[in-house]
Amino acid sequence: MKLLVTGGAGYVGSVCAARLVEGGHEVVVLDDLSTGHADAVPDGCRFVRGDLAEVAGDVLSEGYDGVLHFAAKSLVAESMADPAKYWDGNVVTSLRLLEAMREHGTPRLVFSSTAATYGQPEEVPIPESAPTRPTNTYGASKLAIDYAITSYARAHGLAAVSLRYFNVAGAHGQYGERHTVETHLIPLVLQVAQGTREHIQIAGEDWPTEDGTCVRDYIHVTDLADAHELALSHAVGGEHRIYNLGSGHGFSVREVIDACRRVTGHPIPAVVGPRRPGDPDRLIASSTLARAELGWTPERTDLDRIVADAWAFASR
Ligand code: UFG
Repeated sequence: MKLLVTGGAGYVGSVCAARLVEGGHEVVVLDDLSTGHADAVPDGCRFVRGDLAEVAGDVLSEGYDGVLHFAAKSLVAESMADPAKYWDGNVVTSLRLLEAMREHGTPRLVFSSTAATYGQPEEVPIPESAPTRPTNTYGASKLAIDYAITSYARAHGLAAVSLRYFNVAGAHGQYGERHTVETHLIPLVLQVAQGTREHIQIAGEDWPTEDGTCVRDYIHVTDLADAHELALSHAVGGEHRIYNLGSGHGFSVREVIDACRRVTGHPIPAVVGPRRPGDPDRLIASSTLARAELGWTPERTDLDRIVADAWAFASR
């Protein structure tokens, strides 16, 4: 297939683009490099640097079999401080993309969505049928796009799949996580092992969990990328399907820090700080639907393996 990958110079986008090239697809990456890196665009992809909202129509006029849409703003705290950046950068931009796809008859869309669309869960593991009550603007913006996609699928026959990621981690060889503003646990802990950060601050240890720290479902970025290729091939015209992607196991912040100590051999000092506003205590995915309907099986679920791949990437 000839595929457009928006945000293909970012973490998840670059890994997915690399996997699609490995799978024999023709891949064009569109990215404005606002948070991505030109050298993260995988070999074998054509790279178009530009503002998605402005150039989507021109690019799609060449004719594509599908779009994988990763380009987005994704910092939860920033989304609360500067909501316009998220309504404009995520929602308005995605609407422009949908219109360009309709205009040029692009038949398939795989959208990078998030567990943040659910907010504080009532039941864990979280199924796709759980209520969507996002607790931050980032999650709300992604949920708004999901609604828009549903209406485009119904009205215009788009074949669409949204994938709701839990905590993406690890690396795919030379493609990995390099955020200028890093907020994610595993890369921050690895910075301590690298000596660029003194200690890791645990965001609260008075949560109602086994060891008092928050529990998350860490999914290896390569497993996540594989789900995108499956989603593309299973997308059905006129339907918008939504799948959660996680490993189905929960690991606490302390368990993650211990895994990083085992993998790096560094003592990694940790201090306990206050809770981070808006953090749910426990997020674990039910990926039963993705397994049943897409035939997806995450293969890299071992936490030490996930951390080891992130560490190999960070140590490059
Ligand atoms: N944490 C710390 N110390 C840190 C950083 C994080 O203790 O320095 C904790 C957090 O409080 C949280 C856990 O580590 O309990 C994981 O935090 P991340 O920031 O790595 O990930 P989140 O679970 O907050 O975020 C993920 C996705 C977001 C999404 C969110 C939905 O990365 O895109 O889930 O709640 F919005």
